[in-house]
Amino acid sequence: MALLDIKGLKVSSGGKGILKGINLTLEEGKTAVIFGPNGSGKSTLLASIVGLPGYKITEGEIFFKGKDIKNVPIDERARSGIGIGFQYPPAVKGIRLETLLSTIRHDKESMNRYSKMLNMDTYMERDINVGFSGGERKRSEILQLMMQMPELLLLDEPESGVDIENISIIAEALKTSLEKDKPITMRKRSAIIITHTGFILDYIQADVAYVMIDGRILGCGSPNEIFEEIKAKGYKQCKKCLKEDLCRGM
Ligand SMILES: Nc1ncnc2c1ncn2[C@@H]1O[C@H](COP(=O)(O)OP(=O)(O)O)[C@@H](O)[C@H]1O
Ligand SMILES: [Mg+2]
Repeated sequence: MALLDIKGLKVSSGGKGILKGINLTLEEGKTAVIFGPNGSGKSTLLASIVGLPGYKITEGEIFFKGKDIKNVPIDERARSGIGIGFQYPPAVKGIRLETLLSTIRHDKESMNRYSKMLNMDTYMERDINVGFSGGERKRSEILQLMMQMPELLLLDEPESGVDIENISIIAEALKTSLEKDKPITMRKRSAIIITHTGFILDYIQADVAYVMIDGRILGCGSPNEIFEEIKAKGYKQCKKCLKEDLCRGM
């Protein structure tokens, strides 16, 4: 059984059809990458999986661990093992980062270890993301995910707005979260990573890449090959993206 199985998903927001029939399967322990131009619906897909308000599923199903979660509230989805790192993490005035982290998981030792790993140990007393730079917000986001330890990590452009030095810090933290040090058959955690720049691929080995254009997945293939193709020829000419057979069983 796949960890995540999306079938014929159509989603609208603000009365506009955005996802136009998405099929995507992700097995336990696998990392998928989604490429796609701005406005193609990548963030909408993650929002629909995690259950953010404002997105209406008009057709299709989202199975997580074999259960259709379409009507499951967002907090229950989070508790059942779905976590998201937002593209634009919001600031929350009046709540300290440390308070949030210890609410996610009461484990001071992990909190100290992970906050040091992400160079966030001096930010614990500050309100969540208030006055944080782009890169600090992203590191705070990954720290929250590390405390949650979800089985499915949804990462929306984790490297955007982050300088080179901090990209490697974020990538190391993600590698730890995704158990990349273990053999593939031993890994339990899966991820969908949206990347615009592809930088993250230099650090994290992904198993499959999907290309999304205008609310549809065109096909999939090897992450590095597809990324090279996109860089060389642009999205419209991405012929390697059309190897549908590679998509199965991921
Ligand atoms: N609440 C909304 N109302 C109207 N249009 C929306 C809403 N949310 C997203 N969209 C539109 O849906 C399209 C896909 O957005 P998004 O999922 O953020 O794309 P991506 O992450 O691939 O850049 C965009 O054209 C965006 O403007
Ligand atoms: Mg987006």
